[in-house]
Amino acid sequence: MVQVAPSLLSADFTRLEEAVRLIEKAGADIVHVDIMDGHYVPNLTFGPRLVALLKKKTSLPLDVHLMVDNPHEVIPWFIEAGADWISIHLEASTHLHRDVSIIHQAGRKAGVALNPATPLPALNDILAELDFVLLMCVNPGRGSQPFIDASHEKIRNLRRWLRERNLPVRIEIDGGVNLQNMDILIKDGAEIFVAGNAVFNHPDPGEAVRFMKETARRAVAS
Ligand code: DX5
Ligand code: ZN
Repeated sequence: MVQVAPSLLSADFTRLEEAVRLIEKAGADIVHVDIMDGHYVPNLTFGPRLVALLKKKTSLPLDVHLMVDNPHEVIPWFIEAGADWISIHLEASTHLHRDVSIIHQAGRKAGVALNPATPLPALNDILAELDFVLLMCVNPGRGSQPFIDASHEKIRNLRRWLRERNLPVRIEIDGGVNLQNMDILIKDGAEIFVAGNAVFNHPDPGEAVRFMKETARRAVAS
């Protein structure tokens, strides 16, 4: 199933309720919330209180992408806030298996995020435990960056690997996704499409979401 997950990072931070309602009405599947701590990535965004408030405004799953150092310290905050999906960076976690277990014990979906320069084999011993892998197709930290072309091959390799191991882990991609490259990325094997700039800097964000959903429907039907 191909799903669309607009990222609030490119929305107007003073009007997030409106943004969430708009994408929900347009048919988005998931709300992607980027948490940046100013250490792991050179930018600051939201904390758990915002996640808790958003939870009351939408019935869509909240996909919390933790771009933070020491993720184990904040995972419980976001569980408490109502995050439905939580991804942690492989590069930032000291005890990845433990962090993933804590997310699962709370009944939430757990993902591991990989930066563009982190090779896939680093996932080997955790892959079977995951609900999803979040492949970064830009260096994390800000929106509207160009898609890194090497990501195509990485998505294809992960798809092949999951097929060979017969694992139901989903592939989410984040960074540089737009209305033009989505088609080819579906062919590569991506399933969940995070998009900030392509949605919220579009003259009509609802139209951008509908276009992405339509692209997904056509790809699945073909
Ligand atoms: C980047 C974030 C992304 C970001 C993607 O560090 O993790 O979720 O919002 O932005 P776009 O879609 O603009 O590349
Ligand atoms: Zn993200």
